[in-house]
Amino acid sequence: MARYRHLVFHILEFLQKHQLYPDEQILKFKIELLNKTNKSLHHTEDAPQDIIIYGGRAAPLVTFLLNPNVVQELRGDKQYNLQMLKERYQTRLNVGITQHKLVPEETVTVIYSRCGEKFSVYKGSGNDSITQQFDACASWWTQGPDPAFQAELAREMAYTAARFGHVMFPENVYEPALKCAELLIDGVGKGWASLVYFSDNGSTAIEIALKMAFRKFCVDHETLLEFSEGRDEKKHIVVKVLALRGSYHGDTLGAMEAQAPLPYTGFLQQPWYTGKGLFLDPPTDILFNGAWNLSLLEFFAEIVPEEYGTFSTRDEIFDKSRDTSTLATTYLAYVSKQLQEYSGNTQSAHVGALIIIQTTILLRWLIVSAVIHGAGGMHMVDPLFQRVLVNECRNRKIPVIFDEVFTGFWRLGVETPAELLGCKPDIACYAKLMTGGMIPLAVTLATDALFDSFSGDPKLQALLHGHSYSAHAMGCATAAKAIEWFKDPETNHNIIPQGGILRELWDEELVQQISCHSAVQRVVVIGTLFALELKVDASNSTYASLYVKSLLQLLREDGIFMRPLGNVVYLMCGPCTSPEICRELLSKLYIRFGEFNRV
Ligand SMILES: Cc1ncc(COP(=O)(O)O)c(C=O)c1O
Repeated sequence: MARYRHLVFHILEFLQKHQLYPDEQILKFKIELLNKTNKSLHHTEDAPQDIIIYGGRAAPLVTFLLNPNVVQELRGDKQYNLQMLKERYQTRLNVGITQHKLVPEETVTVIYSRCGEKFSVYKGSGNDSITQQFDACASWWTQGPDPAFQAELAREMAYTAARFGHVMFPENVYEPALKCAELLIDGVGKGWASLVYFSDNGSTAIEIALKMAFRKFCVDHETLLEFSEGRDEKKHIVVKVLALRGSYHGDTLGAMEAQAPLPYTGFLQQPWYTGKGLFLDPPTDILFNGAWNLSLLEFFAEIVPEEYGTFSTRDEIFDKSRDTSTLATTYLAYVSKQLQEYSGNTQSAHVGALIIIQTTILLRWLIVSAVIHGAGGMHMVDPLFQRVLVNECRNRKIPVIFDEVFTGFWRLGVETPAELLGCKPDIACYAKLMTGGMIPLAVTLATDALFDSFSGDPKLQALLHGHSYSAHAMGCATAAKAIEWFKDPETNHNIIPQGGILRELWDEELVQQISCHSAVQRVVVIGTLFALELKVDASNSTYASLYVKSLLQLLREDGIFMRPLGNVVYLMCGPCTSPEICRELLSKLYIRFGEFNRV
């Protein structure tokens, strides 16, 4: 390796020139490189013999690259290719969650590469045709690595690909899968999970969780199995979920069935969808005008005194002493009544699982002027309400699933939000950040008791579920690396060693100021997420959507890539992103916000 160091130096110069990595990091690499050169190792200025030989061989290449005309021609080639990507977007790609035809060519973002939290984006011809943008969507909530960790993960992936490629999982074992499983059980599953089921993405992890929960429910409520085995053929049994209205659990059919009706689930999108659940409207917590408030539904608003609805800090919301409050009793009465009414109305239908996302993204929809507008995601469900739900379901032997696909692995500042909630599930699902966002992999964790309901002699009793790429070695190795890296204070400087949680990443003063802004409906800030909802009503809904659009355009010019959820805009960083970077993002947002509001 030592003999190639001089070549690496040129590569570093190139990376620096094109700003593909932060300057400080390149400088660090350069110093490391120089430290081990011939001069420091052998105290001589003379080049070693083999470098002279390699230098001779590389001479034609160097001459070629030093010729500005040739380089200019190559640059044109690169620009042509990037421009071509943009032009062919409409004709070659089908992109979900967007109306394809409404994306004009000039608004398509051509991503040349990614380094840590930033995209390198093609701007158009000219010498500065590549610019940097902070990916504030964390590429659909999956991303975590900073530049140093991305390089580390890439090395791990390359090694694993070369060693394993892909190997079949059932009846086999290999190191990355076992290591990853053990880290999961000892990490997010600590104290409750004992077995791990690998799949490909969040939606499939949810499908598996539902299968597991329903089996356990049927085993615990024996009579159901007897009926289902045909002893009473007239009885038709339906098993449903208890879930929160507005929750999103994925786009495969089973995961969709666990969601209340939304425009995403309508007949136009999926005629098979029926919505197999008892869906409850949860109370949420919001930061508004500098204070945390409970946003209660009408049902609760009538019976809950004002004083239960305000908190001076976010920590108070999570405080377990609230369990003995009048509000907790009110929540319990509401949940029991809903379950009671449901089983009273439909004797053949059973709630066979509770599925919740802690501190969740809920997509709420508002009907404005007969047009449906996404009135925003990123709501924070009151943790007390969720604890009440969990306890009540336990009492009724209904298995509890935590969907931590979005919230797991430090997204909310803790490794698992179960820590915030203060109670444990029977089943939990993870994906996205689990591999640092480098490669798709998902997992469903469950207790021993859950798996017991699948064990027995007949094969048909087993969990008959599998995916071609279950426990993909590269995915497992990458996840193992990410799980270790994110929680280690040596590698992730945001970890507070004493508490094993992330330090506060978003500047509190700025957050407060933004929450007091006249255009802001609410703010949610937790872990790596900062979100705000803009005020919108029937008379200014068109203005609001134009407002969001132009705000985002200005922020892209400032080097921040954002994508709204209706009238909610959010900034999402990685668990390793420094508070200084977060402050810069927040300041840019605040400045643009202020400017815009004066117009
Ligand atoms: C809470 C939650 N559950 C499940 C999913 C589905 O995950 P995937 O997109 O990997 O299928 C998502 C995706 O955003 C999610 O946010």
